[in-house]
Amino acid sequence: MNFLGSKTIETDRLILRTQTMNEQKRLWEILMIPEVNKYFLTVPPKFREKLKDWDKQQKFYEDDMKHANDNNVFRWSIFLKDTGECIGRLSCHEGHDEDESINNPNIRGVGWIIDPKFQGHGYGTEAAKAMIDFMFLECEIEQIITGAAICNPASWKIMEKLGFERQEKTKMIQYTFLDELTEIYSYVMTKERYLSLNLPSRRE
Ligand SMILES: CC(C)(COP(=O)(O)OP(=O)(O)OC[C@H]1O[C@@H](n2cnc3c(N)ncnc32)[C@H](O)[C@@H]1OP(=O)(O)O)[C@@H](O)C(=O)NCCC(=O)NCCS
Repeated sequence: MNFLGSKTIETDRLILRTQTMNEQKRLWEILMIPEVNKYFLTVPPKFREKLKDWDKQQKFYEDDMKHANDNNVFRWSIFLKDTGECIGRLSCHEGHDEDESINNPNIRGVGWIIDPKFQGHGYGTEAAKAMIDFMFLECEIEQIITGAAICNPASWKIMEKLGFERQEKTKMIQYTFLDELTEIYSYVMTKERYLSLNLPSRRE
């Protein structure tokens, strides 16, 4: 693969930019909204309380931002072109973060959040499509494996619209803020499949 890092990506309505400390508090505030973190965060539940405390998180984000420009980091903040407002973030992280048995940077996972105030306008799909185009076409990764809670159609509809293949077997996942395990759909997209789909290069 080509390690191009989180290069700026422009779509019709959005700009995806390398993350900076400037918008981390805003993104953390979005992440702390229960409807956002419920089927997104998979850090161990023992960190629940720490996650809710900005003073503790700030240090974590400051350290994280030191690597935001590294060529092996693929994580963007999402801005509206019209207003410059930060409305979410998305990533194409190492597959290892989703499945411990994967030890190959060419096989990656994806994740996305959009501020609930801006959901339902197609921004999630627009951002995801742009990032996945970049990862397959420019970075030339081999495969994306991912999953979404069955009760979270807003997320798995993005995967299905982009042509991800739903796997027969579901999995059970421990989400950070839920006590019980949640059943998820698993999805796979290969480079060959993505290129053969010939999706429009911008928002549908
Ligand atoms: C998933 C998420 C990023 C989608 O963002 P968005 O900007 O609202 O996405 P879009 O507007 O592009 O909508 C995506 C699809 O989901 C559908 N959708 C949106 N909200 C929905 C809901 N509550 N129930 C059912 N479908 C929904 C949309 O209609 C669209 O499908 P369509 O094109 O077939 O109509 C956003 O809901 C979010 O941040 N959720 C919380 C975090 C999360 O769960 N992340 C993913 C973890 S796997």
